[in-house]
Amino acid sequence: MKFDSKTSKTLPNSDALIVPIVEGQKTLKGWAKELDQLFSGQISQVIKSEVNTGKKGQSTTLYGGKGTSIKTCVLLGLGDKKTITPDDIRNAAGTLARSIKVTKVGSLGWLLDEATTTISSKSELGQLLSEGMGMGAYTFDRYLSKATKPTLKTVTLWTSNTADQKALSEGCRVGTIVADSVNTARDLTNTPANDLMPRHFVDHVKKLGAKSKLIKIEIIDEAKAKKMGMHAFLGVGLGSVEKSYMAVIRYNGGKKGEKPVALVGKGITFDTGGVSIKPSKGMGEMKGDMGGAAAVFGAMEGLIKLKPKKNIIAVMPFAENMCSGTAQRPGDVVTAMNGTTIEITNTDAEGRLVLADALCYTAKQNPSHILDAATLTGAVVIALGDKASGIMGNDDKLIAKLKALEPKTGERLWQLPLYDDYLDYMKSDVADILNASEGRMGGTITAAKFLEQFVSDIPWVHFDIAATGRMGSTSGYTLKGMSGSGVRTFIAHVLSEAN
Ligand code: BES
Ligand code: MN
Ligand code: ZN
Repeated sequence: MKFDSKTSKTLPNSDALIVPIVEGQKTLKGWAKELDQLFSGQISQVIKSEVNTGKKGQSTTLYGGKGTSIKTCVLLGLGDKKTITPDDIRNAAGTLARSIKVTKVGSLGWLLDEATTTISSKSELGQLLSEGMGMGAYTFDRYLSKATKPTLKTVTLWTSNTADQKALSEGCRVGTIVADSVNTARDLTNTPANDLMPRHFVDHVKKLGAKSKLIKIEIIDEAKAKKMGMHAFLGVGLGSVEKSYMAVIRYNGGKKGEKPVALVGKGITFDTGGVSIKPSKGMGEMKGDMGGAAAVFGAMEGLIKLKPKKNIIAVMPFAENMCSGTAQRPGDVVTAMNGTTIEITNTDAEGRLVLADALCYTAKQNPSHILDAATLTGAVVIALGDKASGIMGNDDKLIAKLKALEPKTGERLWQLPLYDDYLDYMKSDVADILNASEGRMGGTITAAKFLEQFVSDIPWVHFDIAATGRMGSTSGYTLKGMSGSGVRTFIAHVLSEAN
């Protein structure tokens, strides 16, 4: 799907034209008025008749533009003009993209001259529309023997103003890249674990590395990880016949010697729980347990195209958590790269083990700060549901900065506390720390508290995306299934750091 903005002096003629309307709108101007005449006054009839009052999520499709190639027109409700949020625009675009999937529309145009929204920046509007449509149009059909090919080829944001067109085009460019990045993360997480093992993900990383001269890839294999003392990481993959790998991407878009921003993502390609095996119901969803790494990878793919003047280091520990005769056991003690000894009480708390060494390694690279994303705890699913990710960290300023991105990205973040005495739950009799507490109290926080032991004193924020990584239902640009949670925040954060 090609997304761009164009100018036109006269009423544009895409197959389908979208007329955004706001709540209570009773009149039409400019192109919308012309279109109304071509559609025999149906548009004004609809908005006057209370069939479509411009409320969020409302849309009316009309057919038959006389004597033109315009076959269809959609009146798309954006909601109350005074309270429309960026995410409302994104969702309206997403809903529309989903409804187009089942049609044969080949070209679609948005009539933007008459659109009255609270989004005053045209580049932001272009980004929101392309992001929303790009995410809404996503399908995961590679395993269907009879997949339907999408017919929609071009989407045009029409305007009569040249300056607006330039800004809208720039927004489209960014929004398309962001949506593609989210969809890359969705593809990776939706792919079943028999087709996406650690070595497959490593292949993706290598391919990405070949795409830009600004990138250097480093793959730490098991032998090298052993030399570096990454035994917390290595223990997790012991039960699998598949080898573990720690993949590192270095993007050098910034000044030489400038500290990089670090992105770290949990990459468990399948999580059976290990010897502390999970119940079989719903276990298949654990093919998405590399959602953190997918978010990091998706964000990097996008950032490489957006070329921010910033150095970035991305670290993804990949392992498969299986149960077998070679698997690690509860009661085992492992030593992480920074010398911390860990008593394994539960082999299902494996994410924090691979992240422990990934964070130690990352901290040693001297980054300005570290963001990590992980499908880490069932507890965050209970606490926040799939409506917000849990965030925790050692730097309140950084947390506030990330939180401030929320209205723009539409990715909700909710901070949980990291009081020191949560560590009391993690005391071991035989090692420095337990990997999982005895009880279930504060499960999301104790997991983050564990991670904190491995970041030295580097500013760090952890995103628990266990719930938001997989959405339970479809609405707007959100599709049921793996979501690509974290991608938009990571991209927006790095871009904001580069400016
Ligand atoms: N991958 C799971 C967490 C998870 C749960 C992700 C639900 C997505 C949906 C993680 O490895 C895990 O098993 N965590 C355990 C930790 C516990 C044993 C301390 C959990 O939360 O139950
Ligand atoms: Mn687990
Ligand atoms: Zn897991």
